[in-house]
Amino acid sequence: VTVYLVGAGPGAADLLTVRAAALLARADVVVHDRLVSNDVLTLARGARLVDVGKVPGAGDVQASINELLVDLGRRHDCVVRLKGGDPFIFGRGAEEVEALRDAGLEVEVVPGLSSVLAAPLLAGVPLTHRGAARGVVIVTATERDGGADLRSLADPTLTIVVVMGVARRRAVAADLMAGGLSRDTPVAVVERAGTPDQRVVRGVLERLGDLDVSAPAVIIVGAVAGLDLGAVASPGTLCFLSSST
Ligand SMILES: C[S@@+](CC[C@H](N)C(=O)[O-])C[C@H]1O[C@@H](n2cnc3c(N)ncnc32)[C@H](O)[C@@H]1O
Repeated sequence: VTVYLVGAGPGAADLLTVRAAALLARADVVVHDRLVSNDVLTLARGARLVDVGKVPGAGDVQASINELLVDLGRRHDCVVRLKGGDPFIFGRGAEEVEALRDAGLEVEVVPGLSSVLAAPLLAGVPLTHRGAARGVVIVTATERDGGADLRSLADPTLTIVVVMGVARRRAVAADLMAGGLSRDTPVAVVERAGTPDQRVVRGVLERLGDLDVSAPAVIIVGAVAGLDLGAVASPGTLCFLSSST
């Protein structure tokens, strides 16, 4: 018996991998997160859907999710654990792999298009750009015991992509300026990327704390956040996958 940990991508159903769509079409049960879109869930036509979405601040329910996956994995042929974006980017996918293996179950992980890559592109921001950014740092602003200290990441030659950072955006900006980034460094915040409610808010690092933004969003800090290529990608689902997938 195999339990599949599948990345659901940023929202639009046709930004799934073909493998993910095929597994959804034959799943008995789909255990999904809050951030997985209805467009994607529609592809799991024959499956029972179980929403284990975690409400921020509601305590750690990971242990009960692990137990649920083990239990379902023992009782069904095809269990899909569907996670927003990519299962291994801040998705606690590795913990679920370990729990399932410890229980003697096989696991396969299917990559997904992470919001850390997709959200900037959907907003018209290239994460790297010759002369503007020689690399990308991906970081969470929120750690188990509170806020993360981002001072050591302040490098004007890099793009910094911050997830789980909306509530801490003032502290993020303060850390990065204390680390040496200029207060004029461009920032872009991409809310609900890849959904019909996608919204992009731009500004400079010094004013990040004042921007009117809401989660889920990724915060992009660096020279590239000042570039705007406009609408370079489709904001929603263009085509539905056929039932033969
Ligand atoms: C627990 S992490 C999960 C990330 C996910 N595994 C991924 O690869 O996209 C949740 C954070 O990802 C970001 N995020 C997820 N989906 C998003 C979306 N559609 N638009 C913008 N940010 C998103 C937000 O920063 C959010 O707080």
